[in-house]
This record gives sequence, C-alpha cells and structure tokens, in this order.
Amino acid sequence: MTLSKGDEPIPKFGRAYRKDFSLESSYIPVNHGSFGTFPHVVKEQLRKYQDECELQPDRWYRYEKELHLKRNLDCISRLIHCDAKDLAFVQNSSQAANTVLRSYPFKKGDKIICLQTAYVNVEKTLLYIRDKYGVQLLPIELNYPLEDEEVVQKIREVIEAEHAKIGEPKIIMGVIDAICSAPGVRLPFESIASLLKQHNILSLIDGAHVLGQIEIDIEALDPDFFFTNCHKWLYTPRGCTILYVAKRNQGYIHPTTINFAYEHHKDGAITSTFNLELSPPTIDCSNYLCVETALKYRESIGGEEKIRQYTHDIAVKGGQLVAEMLGTRVMENSTKTLTASMVNVELPHFETSKIQNGQVAPYIIKKLVYEHNMTALIYENNGKYWIRLSGQIYVDLNDFKAVGEALLSIIQELNK
Ligand SMILES: Cc1ncc(COP(=O)(O)O)c(C=O)c1O
Repeated sequence: MTLSKGDEPIPKFGRAYRKDFSLESSYIPVNHGSFGTFPHVVKEQLRKYQDECELQPDRWYRYEKELHLKRNLDCISRLIHCDAKDLAFVQNSSQAANTVLRSYPFKKGDKIICLQTAYVNVEKTLLYIRDKYGVQLLPIELNYPLEDEEVVQKIREVIEAEHAKIGEPKIIMGVIDAICSAPGVRLPFESIASLLKQHNILSLIDGAHVLGQIEIDIEALDPDFFFTNCHKWLYTPRGCTILYVAKRNQGYIHPTTINFAYEHHKDGAITSTFNLELSPPTIDCSNYLCVETALKYRESIGGEEKIRQYTHDIAVKGGQLVAEMLGTRVMENSTKTLTASMVNVELPHFETSKIQNGQVAPYIIKKLVYEHNMTALIYENNGKYWIRLSGQIYVDLNDFKAVGEALLSIIQELNK
C-alpha cells in the first residue's frame, strides 16, 4: 500500500516510520498500548507552546491558553462527534475515572456493575468509593476468549437478577471498558451501553485505548460518561486525556482538585459551571494543545482510516506469527471482534518455580526490557499467561518475529 498526499508519495507503514519518532533504533516497539509515543513534529509544537508561554506568562495563562484549549477541544469534538462544550481535558484516564466516580452523588447502598478486567487504577477508585461511601460493587468475571454476545449476556444476567430483588437498591451505574488493558481486547461496548440505558443505568465508559485505535461516535453511543487518552494511540505527549460528560450529568461532576468555579448542583442537568470547573488549573497544559498537530500529522500520513487499517492488520498478522512460533494461539472469538490494534497471544506452559510467587509477569517483562530491548504486557486470564502486543505504524513482522524469539529464549531458560 503506497499512500499519496499531493505530489509526495508517502512511504509504506513499517520500520521506515521510526524516523518520525524519537525511538532508539535497536528498540522493538511492540508495546504502544501502555504509554504511547509521539512524533518529532508534535514534540516541536510542544516545545513551541512552552516557549511561547514563558515569553509572557500572564498573557498566556489569562487569555491565550483558553483560545488554544478551545481550538483543540473543537478538533476532538469533530473527531468523536459531540458538542465541544461537553468535553474537558484531564491529565490521564485515571484522573478522568476519579473525577466522575469521586464526584457523582452516590448514596450508601447504591450498586455499581464493573468488570473484573477493569484497569487497576479504575478498580481501585471503585474500591475507594465503596470504602468511603458504602456503594456496593458487582464485579463480573470475564474469562477470555469470549463471544461478544456472551459478554453482553453475562451483564444482562447480573442486571436482571439484581433488579428482580424486591426492596433492594437498583444498579445505578455500569463501569465498562471499550477496549480493556489486559486482555487487550475490544468489548461490545455499544451493545453494553444500550443495555445499560434500557435498564436506566448510567454508563461510564473507559475508552483509554479508543482515540486513534477505533472509531467512536459519541452522539450515537450517548454514554453518560466517557474518557479517552490522546497520549496512547493519537500521538500526543503523555498527560492528555479527554473526559466527556453528557449534559444531563454535568451538574454533578467536579474536578479532583476543586477550583474557584465550584458550585453545588442538586440537578445533574445544570451545565453552568462544568467548563469552568473542569478548565485546567495552573499546570503546563501544552500537552493538551498538541491534539491539533497530532491530528495533522496523522492526516499527512494517510489519515485515521489508513492508520487504523495498518495497525489492525499488523497486529493480526504479527500475533499469528508469534503464536505459530510459540505453538500456541491468539485470543480471538468466532466473529474476530477481539483484536483491534492490540493482539493477545497465549504463552506456552513454562516452569515458574524459579520465579518468586506472584512475580511471573514482572519477571518476564523486566527480562524483555533489559535483555531484549522490547516490552509487552504479560498477564493472566482464564488460568493462562498471555502476552499483549501492539500494532503501530512503525512496526512490521520483523518486530513480531523478534518478540517470538525473545519469548522462546526466556521460556527455554526457565524450563532448563
Ligand atoms: C483500560 C485502561 N483504563 C485506564 C488506564 C489508565 O490510563 P492512564 O495511565 O492514562 O491513567 C489504562 C492505562 O493503560 C487502561 O489501559
């Protein structure tokens, strides 16, 4: 596939694209899903905003910062189809989850459905509000691979069983992933959001991995709360996340650090302070301002669709290659909906007696980093160990082959 823009041919995605990023040439970058990275053009823009701010900090913080923020939120609103007034920048997805869960006016006994595969910081925030406010958590176990309908059915069964209980509080909120971290799989979040809506349950969708990896249409999805990182898959600097709150709930939501604009609202539909309360405090928010440049870069190399196509295809092909090398399988279902741009491969059985209890994943990850100059998430699901690998415009099959070889060598060493 050779893309073209104007007269200039755009090179094929793969290793050649590493020149656009700061990655060291010997590094095997198959773990984009954890921390992302960003191209030189974005780095230059970041530094430019930082320098501009220091020329006249008062002018910047009092007037110009807001104009830049608004322009960047407008870019996101066009990309995900929503009103820019319903969006706020926060530093990361953990902060977005905290913003919603720690300010929503839960009452003691309120029930929240969540997934046992929730990202640890989100899970811990749920435990915090359980301990502090007495909400009840209903975690749903997901043992992969699963068909989409099985996931929806499990959630439906819990809702129906709970709502059939007479005299007990109903489920008030569902906290679900669009794409989980471990396993790195896409969930049927559109169907789950609609199921929650049918049962009058608020939806909080963890879309940390969404922007830049899959398409999303907020207007059609109509979640109550949604957040997505720009620093994972959209190529902004780290510390750039979007929080969406539907107008009907904005009155309830306050930032994790309360500011001058705070007002208590009895009615969630009061939107008067949402934007001011969620406006960034005195921090360096240049990261937030790089959305526009990141999107321009993505457009210049072929656009969202082409990027998605490649990162998905290489994840599928690369995962298959690693599974063949290891003699195992890729985590996939019959309709092949689990793999977006992250692919999960089962590790073969290996001897864990040389590794301290509970330290298998950290042990392998550290070996990958320091002995093989690569990283990937290792985790357990459904009684097996798996590795999560990320497709990206700058990887190709050679990188996946290198991962297969590294894993074989680590496993051989453990089995000695
Ligand atoms: C599904 C999911 N949710 C939330 C987070 C937290 O993201 P952040 O590091 O931006 O707080 C992650 C991070 O990897 C994640 O994978």
